[in-house]
Amino acid sequence: MRAIRMHDYGGPDVLRLDDVPVPEPAAGQVRVRVHATGINPFEWKLREGRMRGRIELQLPHIPGFDVTGVIDKLGPEVSGWSEGDEVIAALNRSAQGGYADYAVASAEDVVRKPASLSFEAATGLLTPAATAYRFLVELAEVKAGQNVFIHGGAGGVGSAAVQIAKALGAHVTTTASTYNIDYLRGLGADEVINYRRYRFEDYIGQADVVLDNVGGDTLARTPAAMKRGAVLVSPAGVPNAEEVEKAGVRTPSTAWNTGAAFGPRIQKLVDLVNAGKLRVNVDKAFRLEDAAAAQELSQQGHARGKLVLKVHS
Ligand SMILES: NC(=O)c1ccc[n+]([C@@H]2O[C@H](COP(=O)([O-])OP(=O)(O)OC[C@H]3O[C@@H](n4cnc5c(N)ncnc54)[C@H](OP(=O)(O)O)[C@@H]3O)[C@@H](O)[C@H]2O)c1
Repeated sequence: MRAIRMHDYGGPDVLRLDDVPVPEPAAGQVRVRVHATGINPFEWKLREGRMRGRIELQLPHIPGFDVTGVIDKLGPEVSGWSEGDEVIAALNRSAQGGYADYAVASAEDVVRKPASLSFEAATGLLTPAATAYRFLVELAEVKAGQNVFIHGGAGGVGSAAVQIAKALGAHVTTTASTYNIDYLRGLGADEVINYRRYRFEDYIGQADVVLDNVGGDTLARTPAAMKRGAVLVSPAGVPNAEEVEKAGVRTPSTAWNTGAAFGPRIQKLVDLVNAGKLRVNVDKAFRLEDAAAAQELSQQGHARGKLVLKVHS
């Protein structure tokens, strides 16, 4: 099969289109003929070696964790699934990934794709929406009536977060560039602040919960502007402990290693889609062989919703 493989740590040129054996599903796994794979910032960060020490890859490595497609083979001891089922699958982060014609996933990390979403859009329910769900629902425990402030509302995580926070009954304020203001109002945001023109510090003081999807200087400036007792969560970085302490802000541990299977989490997002409360905007779809260009665009940091690889139609 065709697969994009990372042959070393470094720039986009370490990604090459290779011919490799089709993977065989082991016990408890299904094989998916990939229609689409989500592109996430995590993948260019991994490629550059920024995660070394935390995640050691076996090179050459096929990147990509978020695939949608059709089950084409069941491994032993799998029940409840059939060949031909249209699915959304979260791949094991330490195994070979989804920038490929086929990928294998644990059956408990697979859910049925809702008919209302294309294969490309459905990739948005994996890393991006699952992250928004984890940080807003499981960690910050957002409640109806709370004020939620989201840094970076227009990206993969942010677009899902705005909609999930609205579905929970929160009042949502978010930040974006001018060209994304109407997009975010369309997703349900109550207030959208143009972060290039206005200082977010002037709007964040009312928030009960802040979700930061930007990191860096944005995250560094955030605790001091928050009200005491409010909750700060960030998938994009680790808040400065001294600043957090000084500001009297709460920061739940953001570790993912709960041991829980991904299927039930993703099913909650599918339920929101089926209830008309969550949709996914596909910003741009690339061919498999253009994965390096897709990662380069992701690295520029201005995707509106999802960037994807369209592998099969
Ligand atoms: N820890 C985890 O488990 C986990 C999981 C998923 C993601 N992440 C991390 O979370 C971050 C977000 O991921 P993502 O997939 O949503 O990324 P993404 O899709 O690339 O996000 C792009 C968005 O960021 C916005 N943005 C850039 N600079 C901004 C700023 N200064 N203020 C406000 N918005 C800004 C852009 O908005 P405009 O175009 O409107 O400027 C764009 O819409 C990344 O750092 C990613 O690595 C972590």
